[in-house]
Amino acid sequence: MGLQEICSGVWSAEHRQKFGFGFAAPCRMAVVRLASGGLWIHSPGPMDEALAGEIRELGPVEYLVAPNLFHHLHLRAAIERFPEAEVHAPPGLEKKRPDVTFAGTLGLAAPWGADLQPIPIEGMPRFREVVFVHRPSGSLLVADLLFNLRRRLGPAVAIYMRLTGAYGRVAQSRILRLAVRDRPAAAASCLRMLCCPFDRLVPCHGEIVEHGAKRQVEAALSWLLRDLERPPDAQSVNSAVPEV
Ligand SMILES: [Fe+2]
Repeated sequence: MGLQEICSGVWSAEHRQKFGFGFAAPCRMAVVRLASGGLWIHSPGPMDEALAGEIRELGPVEYLVAPNLFHHLHLRAAIERFPEAEVHAPPGLEKKRPDVTFAGTLGLAAPWGADLQPIPIEGMPRFREVVFVHRPSGSLLVADLLFNLRRRLGPAVAIYMRLTGAYGRVAQSRILRLAVRDRPAAAASCLRMLCCPFDRLVPCHGEIVEHGAKRQVEAALSWLLRDLERPPDAQSVNSAVPEV
C-alpha cells in the first residue's frame, strides 16, 4: 500500500508487521513535512522503490526516527533509500543496532524545529518510547504507547489483542502496563503529553482518530494518571516542555 494523506503535511503508509507465533498486525509509518520543506519519517516501514519514489515527490527526506526500542526493524532499508537523512532514536537503540549511525538521541529537544515536539515517556526502560505532537495539524504520533486496533485483524490476532486489553478502542495493552517500572515518572510524562495541543491520534498500530483524540487517550491512560496530582493550571505542565 502506498502513501495516504492524513491531513495537510502528514501522510501514512501501512504494512503488516509480524510479531511472533505467526501473528501479524497493521503497522503505520508516518511522513511529516517540516516547515523547511524537508520530510521527517516516523517509524520507517518496508521501503520499496515505488514507496520511496512517492516520498521523494513530496520533498527531501531529512530525518528518520525510530520512536522506541522496538520500532527499528526497517531502519536499514530506509537508510539505503535516503542515505542523506539523519537517524534519531531513543538512548539504547545504538546497542541493538550497531549497524546504524545515529545522528542524535531523542529527548525533549527538537532539532528539526518547533513543529514537532518530542515527549519522552519515562519510566518504561524496556520501550523508551518518545511520542511526538505535530503542532500545525494537532496530531499526536505514538508507536506502542497506545493502540487503536479495530479491524483488519485475523481472528487469532483479534483474540490475542482482546486478551491484552488492546482491541476495539484506544487502549494501552497489558504488556505495556507491565513494562512500567517507574509509575510516577510514566504518569508525569503522559500528563505532559496530554497538556500539549492535539486533537488527532496517529498510532502505529490501528486506526487514526481524527477528532476528540485527547479524551480517548486520557481514558486509556486513566489507570496510570489516577494517582497523579494534577496541577491547578494544566498549562503549567505544558510550559515544562521547552519551546525550541
Ligand atoms: Fe509496535
